[in-house]
Amino acid sequence: MNSIIEKVNSNETLNKRDIIRLLESNDSLISKFADKIRQKYKGNFIHLRGLIEFTNICKQNCLYCGLRRDNKVIDRYRLSTDDIYNCALKAKNLGFKTIVLQGGEDFFFDVDKLCNLIIKLKELDLAITLSIGERTYDEYKEFKKSGADRYLLRIETTDKNLYKSLHPNMSFDNRVECLYNLKSLGYETGTGIMAGLPNQTIESIADDILFFKELNADMVGIGPFIPNPNTPLANENNNNFDIALKVMAITRLVMPDINIPATTAMETLNPNGRLIALKSGANVVMPNVTSVEYRKKYELYPGKICINDEADKCFNCISTKIKSIGREISTTKGFRFDEH
Ligand code: 5AD
Ligand code: SF4
Ligand code: FES
Repeated sequence: MNSIIEKVNSNETLNKRDIIRLLESNDSLISKFADKIRQKYKGNFIHLRGLIEFTNICKQNCLYCGLRRDNKVIDRYRLSTDDIYNCALKAKNLGFKTIVLQGGEDFFFDVDKLCNLIIKLKELDLAITLSIGERTYDEYKEFKKSGADRYLLRIETTDKNLYKSLHPNMSFDNRVECLYNLKSLGYETGTGIMAGLPNQTIESIADDILFFKELNADMVGIGPFIPNPNTPLANENNNNFDIALKVMAITRLVMPDINIPATTAMETLNPNGRLIALKSGANVVMPNVTSVEYRKKYELYPGKICINDEADKCFNCISTKIKSIGREISTTKGFRFDEH
């Protein structure tokens, strides 16, 4: 551990062997050191992003996900432009500087609809993050021209065989290409994985972290895999909080200046999950600002938090928690290279 701390302190990059050693260790120093590095590079500020779950319709069939096409037991919905605008306005009035438009791969939202939506939302002077899956280079380019600032697309795993087994009819190479397209178009690009997937190895997680670095991701979100009873992975292991936290902390050591969220899935597995994550390297939280009637329908995994809470309740709740650990809420849009 000491030699790795020294390496990070002297700006040396960690190699695969170092990362594997950290992944195999249960030393609580990893979290403590990630917290120190976060403080040094990102300061005391936490960025809040308002999450709008605007469609749970998806043409894909990822084995782990409750929104998968073959899941017939969820109620599908799509928000109207007005509904989305109103969520964004609510977020703006609460003080959010960024909104995240997240949805399944729902091609009802074609390039024209999305561009018009982005242009309208931009009137609110918010940073706009998209999280709507794989699209073509040209579509990404149009969204960018319309005012989108950031894009989230988790790689989920860099183990090609595992990727293939979890994503019927999807291509790993295309996903990687999407991420490089986003980077080249000037998006702040976020990626990430689920930790604890069935058949995921420590070695593949080390490769995942090296992939984040290779891509020069601006944001990395790590969440525990949580088995969903309405998917083929219903009976898999549900004990992935610790591994997710560790992967997140190590990511902070490998990429000291990026934005790292304390993910909602962590809070699902541990009532204090987000605060623990914020003390182990994370500097971002993404509270939900979707209207309550839709929240429970956006069920990626069971036990989702805040399904009965309105946006202002979540905003106040998380703000109080953040202050309780002596951190401050940033008033900037929180780009990777912003001052704070
Ligand atoms: N457990 C945890 N995270 C999940 N996601 C989808 N299904 C699950 C699950 N069962 C995550 C994926 C996706 C993000 C939107 O939600 O990583 O990229
Ligand atoms: Fe669709 Fe994304 Fe869920 Fe896959 S993970 S089924 S692409 S919403
Ligand atoms: Fe929703 Fe705490 S963040 S109630």
